[in-house]
Amino acid sequence: MNVLQYGGSALLLIWTLFFVSVSSDRYTPDWKSLDARPLPPWYDEAKFGLFVHWGVFSVPAFGSEWFWWNWKGAMSPDYILFMAKNYPPGFTYPEFAPMFNAQFFEPDQWAELFEASGAKYVVFTTKHHEGFTNWKSPTSWNWNSVDTGPHRDLVGDLGAAIRKRSLHYGLYHSLLEWFNPLYQQDQQSGFKTQDFVYYKTMPELYDLVTRYKPELIWSDGDWGAPDTYWNSTEFLAWLYNDSPVKDVIVVNDRWGDGTYCKHGGYYNCADKFTPSTLPDHKWEKCNSIDTHSWGYRRNMRLSDMMDLPSIIKDLVFTVAYGGNYLLNVGPTSDGMIPTTFEERLRDIGAWLKVNGEAIYATKPWRVQAENATVPVWYTSKGSTVYAIFLTNPQQSSFQLFTPLTSEKTVVTLLGSPNPIKWAPMHTSGLTMLLPELPCTPAGAWTIKLDGLA
Ligand SMILES: *[C@@H]1O[C@H](CO)[C@@H](O)[C@H](O)[C@H]1NC(C)=O
Ligand SMILES: *[C@@H]1O[C@H](CO)[C@@H](O)[C@H](O)[C@H]1NC(C)=O
Repeated sequence: MNVLQYGGSALLLIWTLFFVSVSSDRYTPDWKSLDARPLPPWYDEAKFGLFVHWGVFSVPAFGSEWFWWNWKGAMSPDYILFMAKNYPPGFTYPEFAPMFNAQFFEPDQWAELFEASGAKYVVFTTKHHEGFTNWKSPTSWNWNSVDTGPHRDLVGDLGAAIRKRSLHYGLYHSLLEWFNPLYQQDQQSGFKTQDFVYYKTMPELYDLVTRYKPELIWSDGDWGAPDTYWNSTEFLAWLYNDSPVKDVIVVNDRWGDGTYCKHGGYYNCADKFTPSTLPDHKWEKCNSIDTHSWGYRRNMRLSDMMDLPSIIKDLVFTVAYGGNYLLNVGPTSDGMIPTTFEERLRDIGAWLKVNGEAIYATKPWRVQAENATVPVWYTSKGSTVYAIFLTNPQQSSFQLFTPLTSEKTVVTLLGSPNPIKWAPMHTSGLTMLLPELPCTPAGAWTIKLDGLA
């Protein structure tokens, strides 16, 4: 009896402890609780990701991925003229969908290129504001990539190829759909009704998570309505507590009008967010190689594209300020990544092969930048400090003003095996003499400093 009693209360104790520890780990559907969740570490270590905008908008491939809105919402004269000149009268936007043929789409080739760029994650549009889903959504009848157009599960096929390469897979998802009648009905009610969220948005978000198990959700299209309309906090509490990706999932901050730069996981803030001091919250800068569009544009000019040095500058500045850099490419409707984009991606990869040590898994240093002989940005890893120079050198002597040297300080040029000769300056900093001048197409090179004071 005694033994049984003892055993019984021990069991009760264990059970109670288990229950308490489980329940205290659970997130509640409010920002205070959700914002306190630590970001899974893979994301900060990754530093560099690729963004891919692909959809029916890639068929007209004119203007931007906002084509439908610019034509039928904003009634922009450029778009009305473009349609009048090139398509029969009465042609509707959904008629572009069957032309989204993805004939040359080879997910393994995309994944090979993405890995070669040095990116560690890929964020793919599952559905942009046009509402066309790149997977067979059960609530997007005949407006998805399996029923029409490519007749393929683009989200699934790309995901499988990406995971063979040990890249992380993220999904972009637009909460709103410009022309969805349910959304328009909710909008007319001043978002008092939630039919669109109930019948479309939420079923699709849950479907995406359970089907594809993404490691990142890049939420967008939130701005029209408050987070209470979208039920964002209920979804995130489920995502963090009970979803199959609860331990690895990372999300951004676009979960309702006014949430960005304030709530969620990491902060995107506005598109192409460019802070001027070190932010105190994990953030990401997204940018597009085509400076005018995220989706493919057939009328893109070479001068519209970011060149390699400007991409590397943007990446370095972002990482020095503690951010991640998400760089966008827009594939063509037939499934090719334009060769001009491919060239940029492979060139970034070549630069990262030598300089990636100063990027991946680094932390901001106590000083982020200085105006040395040429502009320099700093990153750090443990006691090692990296100084990334953003201009190809014109002379062989360089100064850095901020590092405090010691007798043990060792200076090296990344990509070169031999230590560099250096001498301390009178208060702090050092002068160094480069035996060989690094001169790369990226116009950027890295000095590694070990054994600083
Ligand atoms: C939103 O969340 C509330 C509270 O959990 C729930 O009662 C309601 O049904 C949800 N609405 C939708 C559209 O999911
Ligand atoms: C470096 O100089 C530029 C141009 O004068 C200035 O805008 C920038 O703030 C300076 N940066 C630092 C870290 O002092």
